[in-house]
Amino acid sequence: MEFKGLLQPKTWRLCGLRWQVLIFLLYLNHIVRGQIRYSIPEEMKKGSLIGNVAQDLGLDLKRLRAGRARIVTGESVQYTELKTDKGILVVSERIDREQLCGDVTPCSFSFEIILENPIELHRVVVEILDVNDHAPTFQNSDLKLEISESATIGARFILESAEDPDVGVNDLQKYVLTPNDNFVLKQLANPDGSKYAEMILQKPLDREENPRLSLKLIAVDGGNPQRSGSVNIEITVLDVNDNAPVFNQSVYRATVMENAPKDTYITTVNASDADSGSNGQITYSFSKLKGSIADIFVIDKDIGIISVLGHIDFEKDKKYDIRVEAKDQGGFTDTSQIVIEVIDVNDNAPVINVMSFSSPVSEDAPPGTTIAVINVKDADSERNGQITCTTNTNLPFKIKSSITSYYNLISDKGFDRETTPEYNITITATDSGSPPLSSARTLHLRISDVNDNAPLFHQSSYSAYVTENNSPGMSIFTVSARDSDWNQNARISYLLEDTQISGTPVSTYISINSETGVLHAVRSFDYEQIKHLKLSVKAQDGGSPPLSSNVTVKIMIQDQNDNAPQVLYPVQTSSSLVAEMVPRSADVGYLVTKVVAVDVDSGQNAWLSYKLQKATDRALFEVGSQNGEIRTIRQVNDKDAVKQRLTVVVEDNGQPSRSATVNVNVAVADSFPEVLSEFTDFTHDKEYNDNLTFYLVLALAVVSFLFITCLVVIISVKIYRWRQSRILYHSNLPVIPYYPPRYADTLGTGTLQHVYNYEVCRTTDSRKSDCQFTRPCSQNVLIMDPSSTGTMQRMQNEKNILDEPDSPLEVSLLEFNKVPFFLEYILKM
Ligand SMILES: *[C@@H]1O[C@H](CO)[C@@H](O)[C@H](O)[C@H]1NC(C)=O
Ligand SMILES: *[C@@H]1O[C@H](CO)[C@@H](O)[C@H](O)[C@H]1NC(C)=O
Repeated sequence: MEFKGLLQPKTWRLCGLRWQVLIFLLYLNHIVRGQIRYSIPEEMKKGSLIGNVAQDLGLDLKRLRAGRARIVTGESVQYTELKTDKGILVVSERIDREQLCGDVTPCSFSFEIILENPIELHRVVVEILDVNDHAPTFQNSDLKLEISESATIGARFILESAEDPDVGVNDLQKYVLTPNDNFVLKQLANPDGSKYAEMILQKPLDREENPRLSLKLIAVDGGNPQRSGSVNIEITVLDVNDNAPVFNQSVYRATVMENAPKDTYITTVNASDADSGSNGQITYSFSKLKGSIADIFVIDKDIGIISVLGHIDFEKDKKYDIRVEAKDQGGFTDTSQIVIEVIDVNDNAPVINVMSFSSPVSEDAPPGTTIAVINVKDADSERNGQITCTTNTNLPFKIKSSITSYYNLISDKGFDRETTPEYNITITATDSGSPPLSSARTLHLRISDVNDNAPLFHQSSYSAYVTENNSPGMSIFTVSARDSDWNQNARISYLLEDTQISGTPVSTYISINSETGVLHAVRSFDYEQIKHLKLSVKAQDGGSPPLSSNVTVKIMIQDQNDNAPQVLYPVQTSSSLVAEMVPRSADVGYLVTKVVAVDVDSGQNAWLSYKLQKATDRALFEVGSQNGEIRTIRQVNDKDAVKQRLTVVVEDNGQPSRSATVNVNVAVADSFPEVLSEFTDFTHDKEYNDNLTFYLVLALAVVSFLFITCLVVIISVKIYRWRQSRILYHSNLPVIPYYPPRYADTLGTGTLQHVYNYEVCRTTDSRKSDCQFTRPCSQNVLIMDPSSTGTMQRMQNEKNILDEPDSPLEVSLLEFNKVPFFLEYILKM
């Protein structure tokens, strides 16, 4: 019983060691007779057999009953029950090793079986074997980790450890991590033997590749069956700005029209950054812009649109090569190239520069002379800069391209300053753009003068009239010539050609003002001496060499009534007695005589009329007013006086008229003696009559001489020609004599091909009718030579004769018509 008091349940529970010590003491007291030991797994069902105690203790069932065998235990919980009737020990309560022992191993509990009469104490130790009835467990089902992607290799991450209440082999044995590239698992043990694990980074994380990792950590024990527990490891990779922006193209190409307006879209650049958040936020900008490009293009910093900001001029830059930069917030950058080609727009007109221009150009410049060299530039390119250069089509110029962009303006024809003294040459340069642009430049070309025009008289010949008895120095007439050249080349001086008039130099008659061309009379002219002057005026310009031309001026001297009529017959003498006889038998109309008068004036001034001024018997005679014939107008009768005296007035028709009177003695008688007696008083007329007679005879002699001379000349000419033709006839050449149409013997010369005909005679003074044939008229012959050389030679000779400049030649036979007026007059009488 004392035992009972000794073995306090409380003490059992509190300290096993002490309990064992007690059992040992009992042994020492020899109270304990035996001890048995059983091993059972935990968690056996109630009533499960632990062991046959009776058998094991060597006790029979009677003893057990008799001894009132029972289990003595200090514990409050009775895990076992002793079946005394069978002598076996069974499980009476669930036994949980983990509850009973915790981590203590081996785990066992003990109790005593006590018997009375005699008291016997047997010790029973029941060892509880562990059963794997617990899986390893983690405290949390999820484990969240945030790891920066910049974590270096070898970085450690301690993981949550799992718990397994089982012991021994059933306890947690190892951790397993789901396979992955980045981490390896390392298992470690705490000092108390519990196991834990850590992950070691073996390959860097890349958020951009794998922003999250899902791993599973599995803890397994060693039981059978094996049990395990797991935890999900959710790893979030934290971004680090480890990625630079990257352009999607290394080169962006774009085109833009020249002069594109502001805000014209050009292109968009795009860069991407694998980083997230601000690390991936990109701004765009141009990098290191040269010069003024910053004023021309603009880039939207957020979206990368490049557009026009300023003025794009193809002529300044044909291509822009810009670097564009993309930058993230972390400062990483990428650059790309933007090539912007500018498309030319035809916005520049060609520019014409005159490199050289020669003006004035001489009018004798030959065609093909270069007038100007021009340079044409067009800032545009390609077709927009291709230039065509033209000039006025109506002008004699053309444009020739010499070297690139240089053009020569050359003359196409010769110049004539007199028709076109200047040209406005418009050079037009047009490019080939669409629409084309053009510009023009006008060159004012002057043509300088060359003395290529001789002065030209306004008329081919001039006739002037001057009244005789003019005052010397009087201006008669003005010739004028024009010279279409310019300035000095057109400055005309007038000169008199040095010719002779009636053997005296023309300058003694006429002078000319060399500047004005006014002809002055040097002397007073007398129509009765000279009726006209033929002179040649030369107009000469001031060029070098000078050019000249001449004109014939014929000055007609006009008659003035400065001469009274002269009575030639009847000759008036004071001494001699001349009378016309009229027979008494004369009928009415009997021609008594004819008053012959001349007037050296001409025309009206020489138109004479006759009038009977006084008469002894006015009824007997009359004078023909036109012809001066004195006729009887009635029958003469015996009563009429023998001596009749008539006074006839001869009057010219000039203004005022001049007159002369003549006395005509008429003897009305049948016999000379009768007359003589009557006319003794006429003797005073004799002297006058003698003089008149002398003049008449002289005149007749002169006229006869001239007539005979002419006849001789004509005959000799005829003979000469005849002889000449004979000579030619005897040569073997076919000879066809040819005379100008004036002659009757014209042949059918129209059929002949080459006709050369010259009839030339020289005359010194036609008024004297003194013809001289200086050339034999052998040229009035046609020569047809079968061998043409002979003919040609001959022709040449003849030509030389004609070309001889100093022999004024005139067609001779015309001169024969110019028989002096006086002679004609005489012959008419
Ligand atoms: C050339 O141009 C000038 C100035 O415009 C003008 O005076 C002149 O008459 C022109 N000449 C011709 C030949 O057109
Ligand atoms: C005058 O002109 C003519 C032609 O017009 C020419 O034949 C002649 O020789 C000239 N006379 C002089 C003296 O120059």
